[in-house]
Amino acid sequence: MLKKASEKAMNAIEESTKKTKAALKSQEVSEIQSISAGTAVLTGLSNVKMDEMLLFPGNVSGMVQTLSDDAVGVVFLDNPDHLKAGDKAVRTNRILDIPVSNQLLGRVIDPVGKPLDGKGAVAAKERRPIEREAYAIMDRAPVDQPLQTGLKAIDSFTPIGRGQRELILGDRQTGKTAIALDTIINQKNTGVISIYCAIGQQAAAVARVIADLKKYDVLQNCIVVVASGEDQAGMQYIAPYAATTIGEFFMEQGKDVLIVYDDLTNHARAYRQMSLLLRRPPGREAYPGDIFYIHSRLLERSTHLIKKLGGGSLTALPIVSTEAGNISAYIPTNIISITDGQIYLSASLFQKGTMPAIDTGRSVSRVGGDAQLPAYRSLVGPLKLFYSQFEELESFAKFGTQMDKETEERLNRGRAIRMVMEQRQFQPMQVTDQIAILMTTNEGLLDGLDTEKNKKAQEIIASLMNTDFKDIAKAILDRQKLDDKTKQKMLTAFERALKREKVI
Ligand SMILES: Nc1ncnc2c1ncn2[C@@H]1O[C@H](COP(=O)(O)OP(=O)(O)O)[C@@H](O)[C@H]1O
Ligand SMILES: [Mg+2]
Repeated sequence: MLKKASEKAMNAIEESTKKTKAALKSQEVSEIQSISAGTAVLTGLSNVKMDEMLLFPGNVSGMVQTLSDDAVGVVFLDNPDHLKAGDKAVRTNRILDIPVSNQLLGRVIDPVGKPLDGKGAVAAKERRPIEREAYAIMDRAPVDQPLQTGLKAIDSFTPIGRGQRELILGDRQTGKTAIALDTIINQKNTGVISIYCAIGQQAAAVARVIADLKKYDVLQNCIVVVASGEDQAGMQYIAPYAATTIGEFFMEQGKDVLIVYDDLTNHARAYRQMSLLLRRPPGREAYPGDIFYIHSRLLERSTHLIKKLGGGSLTALPIVSTEAGNISAYIPTNIISITDGQIYLSASLFQKGTMPAIDTGRSVSRVGGDAQLPAYRSLVGPLKLFYSQFEELESFAKFGTQMDKETEERLNRGRAIRMVMEQRQFQPMQVTDQIAILMTTNEGLLDGLDTEKNKKAQEIIASLMNTDFKDIAKAILDRQKLDDKTKQKMLTAFERALKREKVI
């Protein structure tokens, strides 16, 4: 009797599981309920996962972005113009991923790994999800190696360390991309791999960047990931995560990787667009509530790994575009708070022709100082203080007040420093040359020179660093400090050469 009852129960259970299995199967395919501007709502698909890829007719893929009891919100990654309500969608059971391999070097791809450079598919054995948990604290080593940008104004006052996140922000057309590009070009013989992730830009602007990478012969150490302004909002949204997954792949081989997100303002806008269409509740400036989280979980992935994990690093240069210099708008403030410092570009400096147009008073690097070469660090501390006092002094001097000799001298020195900090695009400078030039400026040897002579002086000093003082340059790179005797020897030689060439 008992046995019979249990058998009956078993049968019932089996029967019901069969039914559920069948039901599940039928839910692997679903229908578009409504569709609008790059997003769609689908019915059914009760087992689908967040970030899962779905396939639509015409080989269009979409990614699951919202889950509710009876509907699923999807963003398209390809153009869905031909799709309509009633069209079928198929599950892939795959969370969105990207192929990773060393073959990616030198390539231009979209955020799902499709080639955009006409060189055929990227050979890859492995695929990795575009979203991944960041490394835990105990896997992370302190930032202790500099990442040289080649720009005096940055490597001196706001030095960047490998594994750091340094924000570049400023209005349109103030030289943000130029700084990132110079930094990539400066990695030419350093072994650092660069990833340039273009988000929401015009295709022509991206093409210019790629042409410059080719022209300066660095594309073979770069990977360019592009989701342009003409691409689907969903594609723009996933671009930086995909690029970071590629960066991690190289970092985990012990390599140092530099990643540029150009820019996160466009990224936030794409996310806002898709969120509004998916009917997520809008918050400040109509951005959804998790806008802060989408950027923090991205930038968290930059790090310097401990030796045991290979010691690689991922340095991030996110770019943010401001309007009328307003850094207290929602997106800039958010991102300022989750980076290790910012380089602020000023439109008024740019208009005056001071380039790079870095506002030193508003720029800071919170961890890079520890990584800066000791010879540079000991030089820059006093210089920075002097320079900030000079800027204040100069604003007073504008009122035409009578000045004593000492003030006049301070102004002259400050102007010489500013002149030395100026640098044309595509002319990154070796860090040892930078140190020698700033040392000479600090000593007053370049006071009162006009632009032409200042430039000539810099060339003379740099050339001595690469000939007579080659050994000293090497010692500097080996993290040695310069003793007073060495400094004096260098300064005497620089002065003699500058006089010989009639620069001073
Ligand atoms: N240091 C520089 N020297 C000369 N030209 C520069 C420099 N920095 C930027 N530029 C030029 O200024 C323009 C705007 O720079 P870009 O980097 O595109 O600005 P953003 O990315 O902020 O919009 C470009 O034409 C660029 O070549
Ligand atoms: Mg730009």
